[in-house]
This record gives sequence, structure tokens and C-alpha cells, in this order.
Amino acid sequence: MCGIVGYIGKNKAMPVLLDGLRKLEYRGYDSSGVAIFGKTLQTFKAVGKIKELEKVIGKNKSDGTIGIAHTRWATHGKPSKANAHPHSDCTGKIQVVHNGIIENHAELRELLKKKGHKFHSQTDTEVIPHLIEDLYKGDITQTLQEVLQIIKGAYGLVVFCQDEPEKLLVARCGSPLVIGIGKHETVIASDVSAILQHTKQVIYLEDGEMAEVGYDNFRVFDAKRNLIKKDIESVLWNIEEISKKGFEHFMLKEIFQQPESLKNSFNGRISFENGTAKLGGLTEVADRLRDVERIIIVACGTAWHDGLVGEYMLEEYAGIPVEVEWASEFRYRNPILNKRTAVIAISQSGETADTLAGIKEVKNKGALVLGIVNSVGSTISRETDAGVYNHIGPEISVASTKAFTSQVAILALLTVFLGRQRRMSLVMGKRILKELSDLPEKIDEFLKDNNIERIAKKYHKAKNFAFLGRKYCQPLANEGALKLKEISYIHAEGFASGEMKHGSIALIDKKFPSFFIAPKDSVYEKNLSNIEEIKSRSGDVIAITTKGNKSLEKIADDVIYIPKTLEMLTPILATIPLQLFAYHVARIKGFDVDKPRNLAKSVTVE
Ligand code: F6R
Repeated sequence: MCGIVGYIGKNKAMPVLLDGLRKLEYRGYDSSGVAIFGKTLQTFKAVGKIKELEKVIGKNKSDGTIGIAHTRWATHGKPSKANAHPHSDCTGKIQVVHNGIIENHAELRELLKKKGHKFHSQTDTEVIPHLIEDLYKGDITQTLQEVLQIIKGAYGLVVFCQDEPEKLLVARCGSPLVIGIGKHETVIASDVSAILQHTKQVIYLEDGEMAEVGYDNFRVFDAKRNLIKKDIESVLWNIEEISKKGFEHFMLKEIFQQPESLKNSFNGRISFENGTAKLGGLTEVADRLRDVERIIIVACGTAWHDGLVGEYMLEEYAGIPVEVEWASEFRYRNPILNKRTAVIAISQSGETADTLAGIKEVKNKGALVLGIVNSVGSTISRETDAGVYNHIGPEISVASTKAFTSQVAILALLTVFLGRQRRMSLVMGKRILKELSDLPEKIDEFLKDNNIERIAKKYHKAKNFAFLGRKYCQPLANEGALKLKEISYIHAEGFASGEMKHGSIALIDKKFPSFFIAPKDSVYEKNLSNIEEIKSRSGDVIAITTKGNKSLEKIADDVIYIPKTLEMLTPILATIPLQLFAYHVARIKGFDVDKPRNLAKSVTVE
């Protein structure tokens, strides 16, 4: 989604801003722009990739040491130069970059137009510089405070005013912003990855807070305009974690990183002796968790698929009823909750607007709110009562891979933890944990030797795909379809194997292949019948099954073997071929795997 970078310091701002924008490219965008202040104020904008912006900047590289920059993911108004940020007032002296949506922009625009303001874009953002211009009486900090009382909606904002060029103003409400405190320089960004090269010392702004920053100083105000003290925190991620490390794409790097990322997710969290999980982030709520009678998992997209795997695990092994909700729907429900309900938000970015809105609602109603989040210090991690971090480092590829496997692993740990608080035996706890800890090696084994690239070459021209699975692997059918859709733009649908015959099987013909996730588990025979149903309608079948099970070779057109593990942990292994298949198909088709069209990494709008 949109990205923001701001710089004020002793060095030239342009390289920092452009480098920051490149670091944010993975979030998805369709246009970009820069405003830089040197001898004069210059702005540059372009539609398309950052290299288009660089072409527009050309030799004009400014010596300015203060500037703001933006990558835009269109919401109000199509991608165009006019709609690209920064946006300015009528004089051009006030420049603004904005993430989020100003909900009362239409009425403000009408009001400002009547006062004579001239608008040049279709964006909601443009009302902000005009409103500042309208209220400005020589103090930009005070003016922005007034403006924040008027605008409604979500924003992460950076404002520059040419009449007060020694500062940048930063404000946040629902859209993340981080201020990096360097040596004689301050770098602002919507995501730490754009800051890490300069400093690891950061301030996370909370909703309602506003900051005034110079190259060597900062002041933070709360929503009531009081000066407040903010702690400077250290970012734990390293700059190397946001490089491709020799892989062609971030997605491939992250797929191959999974043996390690999975290990990082459970390292130090397993007590074999007691057959339970040690989840430090839940210690304070452990007693309350013992009394929990119902769990609601709230998430979006891939994280929602994780939740569905978690539902099978938690019900089967911890004996707790679970519901899994799309956050975008859950936020509009009036869920029935009480003190014995735990709501678990799963989010890689920790910034997904729908998931955040969902948990804010239930917190008011007294439920215990937990998070499974990767981004340390993110909004969801701070809004929850307690939680577990994934510890997998930044996930840059828009298509989520290592977050999926890590989230399932954390759900398995949680299942053991809650199960052992209830009826799970020591032996069972030990068994699950042992199998979990063996998984990194098994993923490694699969990654070193598999036939996925060959299968991708064979099927990449298909226009439709069905993905099918049962029980623990049913959510994987949806996940496999989502991965293929988002990066290869092939139409794909995920089904519960048993549902196919209730209508959708009508789609199947010679040109419509099906991907079956059919490990040798408790529902294998049932899957087998469904495979036969597809084959008898001339559909090609690619089947993922357990190593050693040769029986599928007689029926399926292509077979992929994964190592054996516990049924509940199979999704962690079976998702790897699905990720690789989507990756290779997209690559063979020549698409930009890491920056799929229309998509954003962190979805901070509704
Ligand atoms: C798909 C994908 C998305 C995210 C979803 C939630 O590959 O990445 O479906 O899973 O947007 O994002 P987070 O986990 O950041 O809340």
C-alpha cells in the first residue's frame, strides 16, 4: 500500500528519499513523487515504477537536505501524475504526503473551493494542504494541530512548509509512521525497512500523536496537543534481512528461508520435559486462558487460511470450540462475547486495517484479545492484551510464504499450550512438539529435491485451476489458489474436496487441471474417491501426497511427494509445493513476482 519517506538532516535528501522509496516498493504502488527543498522547492512525479520517477528527476538532482517522498496505491482517482503525491496548497509552499483515506474530503473540498482554493487532483489528500493554507498564521505546528481536529478518517502524514524549512511535521491516525533518529539526521517512513540503513533507533507514533522533527531534535504531542515523552526503541531487524541474498526474487528467498524461519518461530518455546510450549508473551494471561471456553480467530487472506488450520488443531487437540472470521466482515458483526472468549488476531504486518478494526471492537466488549504478529511494535501487537511474535524477520514478497508456515507453527504451539492446560496428555504434548521440531529438516529435504519447476512448465498455460483438500489440508486448497492467482493472474479456486461434486465439478474438462492435496492421512481414501471423480471427467490431476505412497501414480497425472509428519502439521509441509508452483508459473509467464499488479503488501485501508 502507499509508502512515505521523509528526510531532514545534514546530507543530501534525494538519495535517501529515493532509496527509501525503493525499500518500500514491495508494498505495492502505481505512481510516486518527491518534493525537495534546496535553493528552491522542487517537485517531481511519475506514474509507474521508481525508475520512471528517476527519469523525471534526470539531472535535476537537488542539493536540498530536506524532503518528502511517496509511493501511491490509488484509492481516490486513477494513477496519474496529477494524483501522485506530494500534494500542495495553491501557493505550492505547503507539501503533503499522506497514507490512508480522509473520509470527509468531499465536504472539505467544496468548502475550500467556495473560499477560492484551486484543486489539481482527484485525491482526498489534496484537501489537507489547502486546509493548512487556509488556517496558517505563521506557525505550522499549531496549524496542523487545528487541521487534525477537522479531518476525519485514517492518516499517516508528513508535512513540509516552505516558510518554516527547518522542520517536518508528522501525524498518525490509523496509518503507521516511524521516526528514525540518526546522527544529525531524522528519517521518517511508513515502514522501518526504509529507515534501517540510516539508524536502528526509532520512535513509533501512536494514533492521535503528532511530531515536529528537525535534524537534531523532535517534539511529540498527544491528541490534546500536550507535549509528551516518547521512548526511543531499537529495531531488532538487520539491513541484510531486506536484501535478496542472491535469489532472483524475494519470494523465492523467503520460500527457501522457511527451514530457518520456522526454527526461529519455535526456538526457545518448547519444553520437551513438560510436553508443553513456553510462550513468554502469554505468561501474564495464562490463568485467564485456562478458563477460556471459546476462541474466535480474526484475520485476512493468507493469515485467515492459517486460522482455518488452527481451528482444526485447537478443536481436535485442545478441545476448545473455534470460529474463524474474515476481519473485513467481523468488524461489522455484533459478536456475542464474554470474559471466557479469546479473540486471536493473526497478522504478518500487524497493520491490516480490517484486522485492527475487528479487535478494537471486541476489546470494548471485554474479550481477551491475543495477537500472532510478525512485525514487532506494529499497531496490532500494541493493541492486543498479549500475544506471540513470529520472529521470522521482515517478509518482503507481497505473496506471503514464510509467514504462513510460521503462523501455523505458532498455532500448533498454542494448541499444545492450551491443550496441556486442559486434557492433553504429556505423551501427546511431547509427540506434537517433537514432530514440529523435525519440520525444518523435512522442508529442507523437499526444497533440495522436487519436481515443481517441471510441473509448472507443463501446466503454466492453463487458464483455470482447482485446488482441493480435506480436513487440515482444506485451508491449503484456498491458500494454493490464492498464491497462484495473486502472482500469475490465473483464475484458481480452492474447494473442500467433498464439496466439488455439489456443483463445481461441472467446470472440469481436459483444459481445467486440479491440484489435490492428498497426504496419506485419516481422509486419504475420501480424497482418492474425489480424485477418481475428476479423472472420470477428463480433468488432469496433480497430487501432493506423502513420500512412500506410490498408489497415486496410477491415477494422478503428476505426483509430488512430501515427507511424512503428523496430520495436524501436514499443512506446513504441503504448502511449500503450492508456493513453489505459483512462483515458477509466474516466473515462466514473465511476471514481476515480487510486485504483483493491483496488490499491496500491507493493506492499511478498509
Ligand atoms: C497473500 C497475502 C495476504 C495477507 C493479508 C493479511 O499472499 O499476503 O492475503 O495474508 O493481506 O495480511 P497481514 O497478515 O499482514 O494482516
